Amino acid sequence: MENTIDQICTEALREIETAKSKDSLNAISVKYLGRKGIVTQFLRNISKLPSEERPKAGEKANEIKKILEKAFEETANRLYSQSPEAHDFVDVSLPGRSALPGSLHPITQITRQICDIFIRMGFDIAEGPEIESDYYNFEALNIPKYHPARDMQDTFYVSDNIVLRTHTSPVQVRVMEKCKPPVKVIAPGKVYRSDSDITHTPMFHQVEGLMVGENISFGNLKGILTNFVHLMFDEKTSLRFRPSFFPFTEPSAEVDMLCVMCRGNGCRICSQTGWIEVLGAGMVHPAVFENVGYDTTKITGFAFGIGIERITMLKYGIDDTRKFFENDFRFLRQF
Ligand code: DAH
Repeated sequence: MENTIDQICTEALREIETAKSKDSLNAISVKYLGRKGIVTQFLRNISKLPSEERPKAGEKANEIKKILEKAFEETANRLYSQSPEAHDFVDVSLPGRSALPGSLHPITQITRQICDIFIRMGFDIAEGPEIESDYYNFEALNIPKYHPARDMQDTFYVSDNIVLRTHTSPVQVRVMEKCKPPVKVIAPGKVYRSDSDITHTPMFHQVEGLMVGENISFGNLKGILTNFVHLMFDEKTSLRFRPSFFPFTEPSAEVDMLCVMCRGNGCRICSQTGWIEVLGAGMVHPAVFENVGYDTTKITGFAFGIGIERITMLKYGIDDTRKFFENDFRFLRQF
């Protein structure tokens, strides 16, 4: 008796599994579980068994009925999901999917804030090409032929004389070639270097600043930059100027601001120094003025270059530059 029902079950499962359509699956269902089906018949015949065999046989038959019902349901679902009508079925009762509202990338937001601050101080916005000639990117900025920055390891070369600009400083030269002094501009934009790790991405953003005219001094530079940092962060964020070297400025400085995380006490972000480097600056080198035809006996000026990623990281407490460019919504949605 048990053998028979087991055999019936095995046979039924094989037929269910190989069913190719809903109709053939229905036919199999009728064959086994219908009113005159094999399993139903079997259940009916239990009453004819000797009374001691009945409970066990009944239990077994019901168990097998359940197994088969489950197999029918699963196969029906599988066949349905493979059928063409499964794919153009529209459930009008489902709630709609709302479109995500777009938002500005954190780098764009901070670039705009930086521009707003300098516009309030009377600066104009200038732009220059990202694909730049060797002349504007290096030569006109007094960067000599064999300077390490020109190395293939650091610079993306498009051809012998064309590079992806490695900084926004070439915009200084382009602006001064076009305009007579006084000049007061900032130039935000993308720059490129062959570099990639936790603090470097091959593309990043800078804002160049240039203020040129008669009697422009290092004092003006300090005033403008201090004002910028106070407006960008707060008035307690003081600045520190360290002597440095850039071929296009003399004297040159690297500028640190008081660490916004620890306020100068020393922490992981500022490598325990209490200070964070945020920009390079200096008085425009006379050689640069000569290249654009300015009168070096009358004209002086300062320039600076700010790293936008660095400012954004400090503003929002982000610790990995690469996050900006991975396009991960979970990261970007927070700003
Ligand atoms: N161009 C420099 C760089 O990318 C930054 C810089 C330094 C810009 C000093 C300047 C400057 O205008 O005066 O590292």
